[in-house]
Amino acid sequence: MSAILSRLEREADAYLIPMLLRLYERAQAPQLGLTQIPEPTDAMPIVDTIEDMRIVMKHPEIFEKDFALIDFFGHSRFNTNGKEWALRRSITQACYNDIGKSTKKTLIRENYKTNIEQINIDSPKYISNRILASSVSIFNNAFLSEENPEILMKMFDKIRKILKILQFISWNGSPNIETLEGIHLEVTYLLDLLDLENQRDPAFAELYKRFQDPSGNIQNYRPASEFIMNAFAGSETSATAILWAIDRLAALPQFQDDLAAADLESPEGEQRLETFINETLRYFPPLPLLTRRLSTDFELGDKQLKQGQRILLSIVGLHHSTKYWKDPHLFDPERPEFARKTYNKLAFVPFFSGPRICGGMRLARMEIREALKLFLKRFRISRTDEVIDFEYGLILRPANYHRLRLNYR
Ligand code: HEM
Repeated sequence: MSAILSRLEREADAYLIPMLLRLYERAQAPQLGLTQIPEPTDAMPIVDTIEDMRIVMKHPEIFEKDFALIDFFGHSRFNTNGKEWALRRSITQACYNDIGKSTKKTLIRENYKTNIEQINIDSPKYISNRILASSVSIFNNAFLSEENPEILMKMFDKIRKILKILQFISWNGSPNIETLEGIHLEVTYLLDLLDLENQRDPAFAELYKRFQDPSGNIQNYRPASEFIMNAFAGSETSATAILWAIDRLAALPQFQDDLAAADLESPEGEQRLETFINETLRYFPPLPLLTRRLSTDFELGDKQLKQGQRILLSIVGLHHSTKYWKDPHLFDPERPEFARKTYNKLAFVPFFSGPRICGGMRLARMEIREALKLFLKRFRISRTDEVIDFEYGLILRPANYHRLRLNYR
């Protein structure tokens, strides 16, 4: 990666991390006794009540997906709207529905088993590598491909950085031409690499074939754009959620031992695991915030929004609000709202909701469950201290491996 992009990445960290922390603080301000509610950014009005969020979720024709951030990668189902979105959605959605069925549980379990067994207790750093390898393989399996996950994993290292920079510059004003050219070059290189791989490797070509536009009706369709965004969103998010859960197990030794000893296939065991997973997704939603752009003027609650204006949907704001949760700043692996299912469904939306809900929610939940069961059976994990390190650029990831210690059970 060029020197310009490395510098921009550091600047992006300096901007995005405090911004995200302010979103957490804003949600918890009443409980912390803060009278001044911090604004994470003055660039965008924030939506963080269930009343306003419900309207946004129900009306994607008014609150459109925002093109700015990932436009560099071209168009995909993630940044299009209306008819084009529906056509693009139909290219992948049936495969996600199919792999999310309970009949696919064994395939998913076997995949995680193979990778988790490769983790050595001397290198906790390798946990994230093996978890991501599983989620990428499962993404490939969704399209009936046995393609080697390492090719995509290498690309993801770059994509992570590029997305972070794009998120930073899309909020922090127009960057200079030099910067734009730098990002454009990096992205073009990645997309071209996919086209080359398609010519070089028959297994990859088989996978790539599924990302053609069967309707032939989408203008300027480029399979590489549709493919790479789906692959990233379909692997990085699940892997991240699993890594956060592992991090929390390390922080809660007693709970970890209880869960490892429980029968996680029994209804009570399943419910305990589900409660813990939900609490992890509540506390550390892999997508802590989303953005939308107004297609028309609209009055949303007390906000007068103008056509073309962008808004910030704070998932963290809902998940950490004292209005909807008891002691939201506490991580409670047995949180009663989840254990007794008394939580407000609109205040817990790690996968969003409405027509633009996550396309792989069922698969993601199954992956998290199966990976954790296997991990708990094989390892006991601990932390050297309580500090939570994270990385943020579109996705909120733990950056904690140097604080983790592993032992076999
Ligand atoms: C814990 C894991 C995951 C989380 C937290 C998550 C979260 C989300 C969220 C919040 C959105 C909405 C984004 C927006 O509208 O701005 C989304 C969209 C999407 N996700 Fe996920 N996701 C996860 C896993 C997956 C997996 C495993 C797949 C597929 C294999 C997937 C595929 C998609 C797709 C295709 C969309 C776009 C839906 C559309 O608008 O057409 N996600 N995800």
